[in-house]
Amino acid sequence: MSDVYYEAQPKQLQFHKATADEVLYGGAAGGGKSFAILWDAVGFCLAYEKAHVAIFRRKFPELEKSIILEFLDKVPNYLYEYNKKEHRAYFTNGSILEFNHCEHDSHVFDYQSAQYDRIYFDELTHFSNFAYTYLMTRCRTVKKGITPQIKSGTNPGNVGHEWVKKRFVDGVIPNKVTEKKDKATDLTYTVQYIPAKIYDNPKLLDADPGYIARLKKLPTEQRKALLEGDWNVFEGQFFREWDEKVHVCQPFKIPKWWVKFRSIDWGFAKPTVVLWYAVSPEGRVYVYRELERTRIPDTQLVKEMKEYSKGETYAYTVADPSLWSINQYERGESIALRLMYMGIPLMKADNNRIAGWNVIHSYLEHSENKKPRLQVFSTCYRLIETLPGLVHDQKNPEDVDTNGDDHAADSLRYGLMTRPHLSKRPFVKPPAQSFESIMNRSLEERKLRGYVGYL
Ligand SMILES: Nc1ncnc2c1ncn2[C@@H]1O[C@H](COP(=O)(O)OP(=O)(O)OP(=O)(O)O)[C@@H](O)[C@H]1O
Ligand SMILES: [Mg+2]
Repeated sequence: MSDVYYEAQPKQLQFHKATADEVLYGGAAGGGKSFAILWDAVGFCLAYEKAHVAIFRRKFPELEKSIILEFLDKVPNYLYEYNKKEHRAYFTNGSILEFNHCEHDSHVFDYQSAQYDRIYFDELTHFSNFAYTYLMTRCRTVKKGITPQIKSGTNPGNVGHEWVKKRFVDGVIPNKVTEKKDKATDLTYTVQYIPAKIYDNPKLLDADPGYIARLKKLPTEQRKALLEGDWNVFEGQFFREWDEKVHVCQPFKIPKWWVKFRSIDWGFAKPTVVLWYAVSPEGRVYVYRELERTRIPDTQLVKEMKEYSKGETYAYTVADPSLWSINQYERGESIALRLMYMGIPLMKADNNRIAGWNVIHSYLEHSENKKPRLQVFSTCYRLIETLPGLVHDQKNPEDVDTNGDDHAADSLRYGLMTRPHLSKRPFVKPPAQSFESIMNRSLEERKLRGYVGYL
């Protein structure tokens, strides 16, 4: 009997030797990514005593059918004891390997007090950026000689396509360690992208020579993603008309008299996203500021919103209808009411999802000689990052898959649903007006709409 249980193929070896803080083995299907993750984790557990390691996959059934099954089948069982209930392997040297899942963003808090020397993600594009960045914080060690690393594998596509591409693929030389800076936090980190090709896994091709022929029969976009590992095609993208070169603009000083408003998508376990909008005289809407916070009390949110809003007045602030709902009641009052008491008058958002997405579609619409009605300041990082990453809901293609990072998009939907008529009206250049008449009209508009007040 041979004692060799795993022999890494050249690309898998690169993955094992990768030294960046964050490593991605990504691209074509069947390249040997999941297998490499499994054996990297096992190797790490065996190399260090009392190591604590986690492999994440979004859904448990997928984890059970792939990595756990391979683990129990291929890793010799004298090395560990497997606890089926906990989904943990206890190695004889004291190391622990956890098989974890995190189906919804709010599940990240199940790992709030965990600490891992190394974390792996299989099928990283199934995760939202929020889940990844939160779980990353659980990777830290006090053990000498261990550098915490996060290593992942994935195919292109799915809800995380855009953020994974931005983080690991764009502007990165394959296989090289590249230093990157997080624009929102100013922190630097290193990434390493190892492109996977189906041809990297001759073991699979030997065992199943028809595999490539089957992939070739897929529709073009899926074929390019799964066979060639092409990140530039993105099957299932919801806002296909989104184009950073067209929809994102450099910040400028907004004239004081432009109508301004805000929108709030509320979450406690999930992020709360506030967006600030200004409407130009020709009806173009500029999203000029964003605020994203997770797990902050409403009092803190109000404090920060007021700080950001200093010196500005708003026609209205539209908010997630769930703020008015019974289960949001705290001390006998809804969060909406509390926000209003604290000086943020609110209007309940229209939560018709399909209509809302259609309004966003029409705001994004553009052609060679038609500028879109929506512009986003380049400083609104989260909206720019997450809007193009949303995918169609598989059961209801008219809707967005809510497993994606949709919090900024929901906020945008609430905001733009307050002005849907604009998208239908042909643009007519307004006649020249005096500053006073514009000011009066916007005040008039505020009164007409019956808003309680403004900051
Ligand atoms: N070094 C290896 N030695 C033996 N078999 C391997 C090796 N690497 C991969 N395989 C086998 O090849 C098959 C495909 O590998 P794996 O599932 O890791 O690919 P993948 O890139 O994760 O695929 P997908 O994109 O579909 O998730 C599996 O059956 C696995 O057992
Ligand atoms: Mg896999």
